[in-house]
Amino acid sequence: MKNILNAPFVEEMKKTTANMYRLGWDERNGGNISYLLDEKEVAEYLDLGKVLRTIPTGFDASPLIGKIFIVTGTGKYFKNVEDDPETNLGIIRITEDGTTAELLWGWKDGGKFTSELPAHLMSHIARLKVEPRNRVIMHTHPTYTLAMNYVHELDEKKFTHSLWEMCTECIVVFPDGVGVLPWMLCGTAEIGEATAKKMEEFRLVVWGMHGIYGAGTTMDETFGLIETVEKAAQIYMLTAHLPRVNTIRDSEMVELAEFFKVKYRKDFLNL
Ligand code: 13P
Ligand code: ZN
Repeated sequence: MKNILNAPFVEEMKKTTANMYRLGWDERNGGNISYLLDEKEVAEYLDLGKVLRTIPTGFDASPLIGKIFIVTGTGKYFKNVEDDPETNLGIIRITEDGTTAELLWGWKDGGKFTSELPAHLMSHIARLKVEPRNRVIMHTHPTYTLAMNYVHELDEKKFTHSLWEMCTECIVVFPDGVGVLPWMLCGTAEIGEATAKKMEEFRLVVWGMHGIYGAGTTMDETFGLIETVEKAAQIYMLTAHLPRVNTIRDSEMVELAEFFKVKYRKDFLNL
C-alpha cells in the first residue's frame, strides 16, 4: 500500500488550500473543497474495506452512493492543511442509504466534513448531470468579489455583464456567466438546493454577501474560474468610484466569443 500523504489528490488539496489562503480568500475556517476521486486510485493508498467511523450527512445524496470524495473539515483552517492534512482533510464514501458518510481516512482529531457538505454534494449531483467529467466543487470568500456584492446589484445578468467588461478574457473563461443567489443562511440544505439548481446552468455561483462556488473537471480549472472572477471584481472595485472613460463593448464581447468559439449567454449582453 502506497503512502497516502504522497497521493496526488492529497498534494492537490494541500497546494490549492495553501494558495487560496495566501491570496487572502480563506480567513480562519473560511472556504471548503470537495473532490470526487477515482476508486481504483484511492485503493492504491487505502484499504477500502476499512471504515474508521460513520457520520450522518442529514440529507439524501443517493445519486452519489459508493462515490468517494476528499473534503476539507468543518472549522478547519486552509492555512493548516499543508502541515497537517490528516487532521484537516477527510476521505469519505457515501453509503447505500445515501445519507451517511463512511470515513476512510482523516479528521484524526474526531472532526468531520465541512458544514457546507449539502451544497457540495448537491452541486456535484447537478454538475455531473450536465458534465460527467466534473470532479471539483470549491467554495471560498474572495475579497473583491465579496466587496462587489455590496456595491453592485445582485442580478446575475448585470453582475456577469459587469465582470465580462472588466477583463478581455472573462467572456472566454466563463461564457456561461455567473449565477447569483441572494443572502441566505449558510450550512443548510436550503442553500445547498438553491446552489445546485444554479449549478444546472452555471459553473460559478455567487452567494450574496458571503462568497462564491465554483465547479470544474480539475482543481486547476475550478480555481482558474474563481481566480478570473476575482481578478475582474478587483478591477471593478479599483475603478467603480472613478469616471469610466473606456469599456469593452458588447459587440467586442461577441467578437471574442465567436473568435474563441465559446457558447456564451447571449441574453446577458445588450445587443
Ligand atoms: P466550514 O468550516 O464548515 O467548512 O465552513 C466554512 C465556510 O466558509 C462556511 O460557508
Ligand atoms: Zn463560506
